[in-house]
Amino acid sequence: MDYFERSAGFGNRFGVVYVDYQTQKRTPKLSAPYFREVARRNAIVQGGTRMQEIRHLSLAFLLTVALIGAAHGQAASPDERARATEVQMTDDERFSLIVSLIGPVPSIGYPRDKRIPEDVKNVSAGYTPGIPRLGIPALQSSDASMGITNPGYRPHDKGATAFPASIVVGSTFNPRRAREGGVAIAREARIRGFNIMLAGGINLARDVRNGRNFEYYGEDPWHTAVLGSEQVNGIQSQQVISTLKHFTLNNNETNRHWLDAIIDPAAHRESDLLAFQIAIERSQPGAIMTSYNKVNGEYTSGNHHLLNEVLKGAWGYKGYVMSDWGAVPGWDYALKGLDQESGLQSDAKQWGDEAFTHRLRKAYAEGKLPKERLSDMVRRILRSFYAVGADKWGLAPEVDMAKHSELALEIARQGIVLLKNQGALPVATDKPLKIAIIGGHAQEGVISGTGSGAVLPMSGFAGVVKIGGPGTLGAVRNMYLFPPSPLAELTKALPNAKFEFDPGYTPAEAVLMAKRSDLAFAFGIRVEGEGFDIADLSLPWGQDAVIDAVATANPNTIVVLETGNPVSMPWRNKVKAVIQAWYPGQAGAQAIAEVLTGKVNPSGRLPITFPASLAQTPITIRYDEGAEVGYRWYAQKNQKPLHAFGHGLSYTTFDYKDLKVNGGETITATFTVTNTGKVAGAVVPQVYLTEAPGERRMRLLGFERVELKPGESKTVRVKADPRLLARFDGKNGLGRWRIAGGTYRIALGKSAGDLGLTAEAPLTARVFGQ
Ligand code: BGC
Repeated sequence: MDYFERSAGFGNRFGVVYVDYQTQKRTPKLSAPYFREVARRNAIVQGGTRMQEIRHLSLAFLLTVALIGAAHGQAASPDERARATEVQMTDDERFSLIVSLIGPVPSIGYPRDKRIPEDVKNVSAGYTPGIPRLGIPALQSSDASMGITNPGYRPHDKGATAFPASIVVGSTFNPRRAREGGVAIAREARIRGFNIMLAGGINLARDVRNGRNFEYYGEDPWHTAVLGSEQVNGIQSQQVISTLKHFTLNNNETNRHWLDAIIDPAAHRESDLLAFQIAIERSQPGAIMTSYNKVNGEYTSGNHHLLNEVLKGAWGYKGYVMSDWGAVPGWDYALKGLDQESGLQSDAKQWGDEAFTHRLRKAYAEGKLPKERLSDMVRRILRSFYAVGADKWGLAPEVDMAKHSELALEIARQGIVLLKNQGALPVATDKPLKIAIIGGHAQEGVISGTGSGAVLPMSGFAGVVKIGGPGTLGAVRNMYLFPPSPLAELTKALPNAKFEFDPGYTPAEAVLMAKRSDLAFAFGIRVEGEGFDIADLSLPWGQDAVIDAVATANPNTIVVLETGNPVSMPWRNKVKAVIQAWYPGQAGAQAIAEVLTGKVNPSGRLPITFPASLAQTPITIRYDEGAEVGYRWYAQKNQKPLHAFGHGLSYTTFDYKDLKVNGGETITATFTVTNTGKVAGAVVPQVYLTEAPGERRMRLLGFERVELKPGESKTVRVKADPRLLARFDGKNGLGRWRIAGGTYRIALGKSAGDLGLTAEAPLTARVFGQ
């Protein structure tokens, strides 16, 4: 009798009924072929490395499910299942689940930890052993938002799809693309055995110097929540847990471990926290990751108010809270709402010791950590597994890398923003032009951001330039170049043109080439990344001087920017056109070439305001601006930025008309958009609140990306989430949302700085939500 026959016999002897959660079918008689099939499926998923564990796992899982199913006569809820599993656990098992280990990254001083079993080949940022007897798989987490990362964890892994940065997804204003990206990333995770994605960076871009803004969607809470939640929905649709991060106000990188973000609690609720609140409601992420910084004096990983009172209390969040890597100085954070300590070794490095291993166990033995709290931590983790189905993977879903490349290209096409165009774009493809390509390593590839989110593309890097800097992350602060190069793609797109390349090494050399060309494409790049903020809005390595000189020498200069944040563009009046390509991912060069030559009509819109200078920005880490982030701030201060939030040009023209607004409980606006030009294109009409009773108040109430053929019209309806019209009313960030009765004025805008039609509607006074 083999293992599977024994298992079936065992189940039948005890009258076990199997409930299949996918079909809701109940199977009273268990069979050996069935068990063999489950083991085979799981073995495929896990690469056949942990067969023995999986056999036990399948049986134990079936038993638990079956017993609960039999008792209730129906499928048990994730809460019930978590409770049923947790009561069976020993304390050793409970403690094993509330920590994770970072995989080996020799370049930043993490050798392989002996606690990770040798036969676990596919490791990444977090590993927690499973509990086979209870059907709990190993918890395997990986970064994240722009594709599956591999900073050295898996030498055998030759790369993944390197999607455009999240700020590019933000610029598409297209939730569908965010979701599709999530699905693709989760599929690439599953074939590697990763069941938790650390994806869903939704911090708001409060400071245009934040080195990690490229990992986030932009500066507006509604826009960020809509796009961020769709990435989570995409990931979780593949039975992989997704993580919204970094909760909260991790809006700077320099000094992130020491920074104390001081903010009025109600203003926090109306901005950064509102982004989390809405994104959680729209996607139910299995996990939330804390940030490194303090908020109002307390580290967020141990912030009782934010974790226990707001997140789990007022919002009723049911998933688990994990720390960021190296963000847990004390075991007592378990009492303050943290459920899992991530990357134990990084806390040992940062704070001298691990928090949730021997120190927490001692506190438990001394009665300082209540049993109920330990159980709650465990149940939350289990609940998330059951809720997304991460414990019952069947065959790994199909991974079509060619389709993923196509998606990476499409997101880049929709996310590139045309900032300025004085008739120079699109470039005619039929003319025998002499074209100079200058700077930006444009002969090699396009750049990406650096840090834990950086992805190695399947094609490998076209080049890696070490930049360096202080601290642990200085060792991996690199300029990664993704092939193909913009030079190669432009050469393809403009077959009748003749190209020359100059590295932009000095203004004098670049000018020589610019002078003998009909047209110059000047590339401006800036490597930004985790651990480092940028000092100002200039381009590094003297590029501003080179672009200025090139533009002086050749009036037909077009600038292509690859940066993660706004730049000040001191040369902007001298150049004919500017496109913001951000970090456009592995297909970025093709998308850039297509936009420049008009194969693609640009439709990206800025998700972050470009200030005219740093002096316009709040420049504070005491967030005195409160909820007035980004465009809200510039409106309040009557400042005219260089490029407003929501700005982006097109090769066609659009007209908005028939704006109608209804009030009552919230604002509902309808209007008609028409493509009045000669080519097809996409536009993003934006509805803003501009005045509430007794005060000017700027808030994005809604948007929609609309694709229109020439002459085509569409009617758009935007219904505002009432919290965007309300003020948060309460002490210390706890309380209710209050809408003052009276007239609200709204405007239909092309951007926050270009408002057209306006209308008014009355809202009824009310208090709601929390
Ligand atoms: C980052 C997180 C990331 C984690 C694991 C940290 O340094 O802040 O965003 O998920 O590392 O790699």
